[in-house]
Amino acid sequence: MSVDPSRTSLRSMKCGEVRSQHIGQTISLCGWVAKRREHGDKLAFVDLRDHSGIVQVVIDDGVDVRSEYVVRITGKVRARPEGTVNTQIATGEVEIGECQVEVLRSADPPPFPIDARADDVDENVRLQYRYLDIRRERMQKNIRLRARVNSAVRSAMERQGFVEVETPMLVPSTPEGAREFLVPSRKEPGSFYALPQSPQLFKQLLMVAGIDRYNQIARCQRDEDLRADRQYEFMQLDAEMSFVEQDDVLEAISEAVLSAAEAVTGERPPSIERITWREAMDRFGVDKPDLRFGMELVELTDVFAGTEFKAFAGASSIKGIRVTGRAEEFGRNKLDGLTDRAKKMGAKGLVWMKVAGDGSLDSPVSKFLSTTEQSAVLSRLECAPGDLVLIVADEWMTTCEVLGQLRNDLGRPPVHQGPYRYVWVVEFPLFVGVDKETGRPKPGHHPFCRPHPDDLDKFETDPLSVRALAYDLVLNGWELGSGSIRIHEPEMQRQVFTALGISEEEANRKFGFFLKPFTFGAPPHGGFAFGLDRLVAILAGEENIREVIAFPKTQSGQDPMTNAPTRADNKQLDELGIRVLPPSV
Ligand code: AMO
Ligand code: AMP
Repeated sequence: MSVDPSRTSLRSMKCGEVRSQHIGQTISLCGWVAKRREHGDKLAFVDLRDHSGIVQVVIDDGVDVRSEYVVRITGKVRARPEGTVNTQIATGEVEIGECQVEVLRSADPPPFPIDARADDVDENVRLQYRYLDIRRERMQKNIRLRARVNSAVRSAMERQGFVEVETPMLVPSTPEGAREFLVPSRKEPGSFYALPQSPQLFKQLLMVAGIDRYNQIARCQRDEDLRADRQYEFMQLDAEMSFVEQDDVLEAISEAVLSAAEAVTGERPPSIERITWREAMDRFGVDKPDLRFGMELVELTDVFAGTEFKAFAGASSIKGIRVTGRAEEFGRNKLDGLTDRAKKMGAKGLVWMKVAGDGSLDSPVSKFLSTTEQSAVLSRLECAPGDLVLIVADEWMTTCEVLGQLRNDLGRPPVHQGPYRYVWVVEFPLFVGVDKETGRPKPGHHPFCRPHPDDLDKFETDPLSVRALAYDLVLNGWELGSGSIRIHEPEMQRQVFTALGISEEEANRKFGFFLKPFTFGAPPHGGFAFGLDRLVAILAGEENIREVIAFPKTQSGQDPMTNAPTRADNKQLDELGIRVLPPSV
């Protein structure tokens, strides 16, 4: 028997489903009163709303129904009179007349209108009354879109032989990089669980356990500063596979992401291109490049190899970007602003040049540059009159990062604006930079990433140049997810720990429970996790993941609806053996 989700004991269809084909039928609808207008002639028009849409209902003006009352109406579908058809809504050709109205529940006036105007309401108020906020079309659409993404992702993984396994929420501390939420143990006062930053350790152990292909739509928690693309709690599509190489993982995850996109947009995106981390940095100055626009970083180091200009002389990396046709927009103040921004990011300075009408370079430093240098800049950057050129000279990483940030500042459209440009960034470095305190390299991702087989000999001599079999998936400049092929041999793991300055004793103490299993026959394996909140937000056309989470936290980490976090009472704290110190001033 097929189930009709519209029909229940109280209603025969949903509000948004009434069409001219139903004219003449007597139907029952349930919903909320969205709007009431008095018409005279003892009649009132009511827009009745449920999640499927609204429909116009004509009632007797003596019936007491007001905004957000919950009502059931039974009446006859009829065509709207000539000239009153509303082409803006799907039910606009019809209305319900001869109505019997049953008030299922009266309602207090809502604190804000339950329509698009609520977008302007203070976010705290929206979150305080989230259950009313979710009654609105925008939130209904987002939450349902999210469910479609979850479903598409789950079935894509199932099709590919992945097995769903749930992993625990109360776990030991894990080395994933962010700050953890701690949960005190009542049975062992002074001891704590951590909430998982991700199922990383457990999914790898499931590979040792022979599960072969694991996946989970997993809740993760990290105590980090919140941003548009960050919440304390978020969801990952988390996966791990045995007996694979990088290509196998990228294919499986691409299939899930592209299926989800197709489920939402109706169109399957083309297969996802790949670039190496080095190329991403070289061309876009970031490890999460936004490919929707040009303004790529252009190599100029060789142009200035023998320069007399002090700021460029001897610099190991010089690059420029061309801001097409925007020279006029940048007066002195704005240019100073760009220079300050560049300096804040670690640059020693920023050279700007405007291409004048005659093709010459207008810049405070042009007098220090030879004509050969000037014309090389113009041709390398393919400049035309009216362009603004920005140049940075520094060590490679700083040059890339500063110009990459300026490129994003000056050219990047809002994340959700089409087209969708997915890209795999592969060959991330195994280590990033050096810890100032210990002098040791820091792990690029987590310490279980497999070094690139071609770089093993550089481990001692030049650790920062060692690449990892680690990759990210990027969409429109947002990092959607990360993964890697893992280390499955204890000897290699020890080598990485040594490079990181983690002693055998510390490794055993911190990760012993994780390292020991690998002595019992671990298969080669690798995996990935992508942030569902981020994917859903972009597909829903939202710039903040809060808009696609039913009950998110505010920027400051609070829930204005439940008031969490709240103070614990003394009895509870006593049981946990916890004393709260007065705040240090
Ligand atoms: P990583 O730490 O890169 O990798 O996280 C993977 C993805 O999770 C999402 N994400 C977040 N989303 C919302 N709010 C947050 N605070 C937040 N933090 C992360 C991002 C990110 O790309 N275990 C590894 C994966 C692996 O190696 O298999 C991991 O968690 O979209
Ligand atoms: P200075 O010689 O420090 O007065 O700098 C002259 C100009 O070059 C100023 O506009 C600086 O902002 C710029 N500048 C200095 N150092 C660099 C650098 N490393 N890269 C790009 N521009 C620089």
